[in-house]
Amino acid sequence: MSTNGKNVIDLENVSKVYGHGESAVHAVDRVSLKLDPGKLFILMGPSGSGKTTLLMLMGCLLKPSSGSVHLFDHEISSMSEQELPAVRLERIGFVFQGFNLFPALTAEENVEATLNLKGYRGEDARRRARDLLDRVDMGKRLTHLPEDLSGGEKQRVALARALAGDPPILLADEPTGMLDSKTGRKIVEILHDLAHREKRLVFMVSHDTRILHLADKTFYMDDGRLNSEHP
Ligand SMILES: Nc1ncnc2c1ncn2[C@@H]1O[C@H](COP(=O)(O)OP(=O)(O)OP(=O)(O)O)[C@@H](O)[C@H]1O
Ligand SMILES: [Mg+2]
Repeated sequence: MSTNGKNVIDLENVSKVYGHGESAVHAVDRVSLKLDPGKLFILMGPSGSGKTTLLMLMGCLLKPSSGSVHLFDHEISSMSEQELPAVRLERIGFVFQGFNLFPALTAEENVEATLNLKGYRGEDARRRARDLLDRVDMGKRLTHLPEDLSGGEKQRVALARALAGDPPILLADEPTGMLDSKTGRKIVEILHDLAHREKRLVFMVSHDTRILHLADKTFYMDDGRLNSEHP
């Protein structure tokens, strides 16, 4: 990982407007932030305040309406739609709000499918999938389908899948949202380790104020505007 201790995500005056005219929604409104690796960032804010939109802008799933997004040395807003998937694949792991696991694939196959996208094949992909699931303590549920897993277990599979390909940036949208506090805490501890021990940049959305002490920095979003506060 070539993180070099500098900002790996740099947003300057970024806005995202959905729709036009009367029905336009200013989901993200002139947000600037710089994030460096080896830290866990937590973003809070009410429903509809723009958190998922901000995560999608940082993860190159959306282009900003205005402003600039830098990931490492890439300027995202000037890149073509054809170039973006490669940046995403190499640099970013995503844990989506509500898991997004493939329902017809087992835990192991869900992780393998992402490894396949990243160029791992056959036995190599299978071995890596098992290693990743072991890391999130899911080695005993490899052949379970998502419907046969608990919420916390599904969340851990989603996390293992996000770690496929060893991304330096991990973006997690409410990874503890549907979990009891003990299971949720376990997930956050894994995310904290991924930041501090493995020097990844981990940025997560959460509503749980009990985990804020684990954050290196907390951000609050309200109506598209971002405020930061040091814990
Ligand atoms: N594709 C879209 N088209 C139009 N409006 C959208 C679209 N996606 C989101 N919005 C609007 O943008 C605003 C921000 O949405 P976003 O999903 O970023 O909020 P959020 O903070 O993640 O909310 P939650 O906590 O409920 O997940 C909301 O008002 C939402 O209705
Ligand atoms: Mg959201």
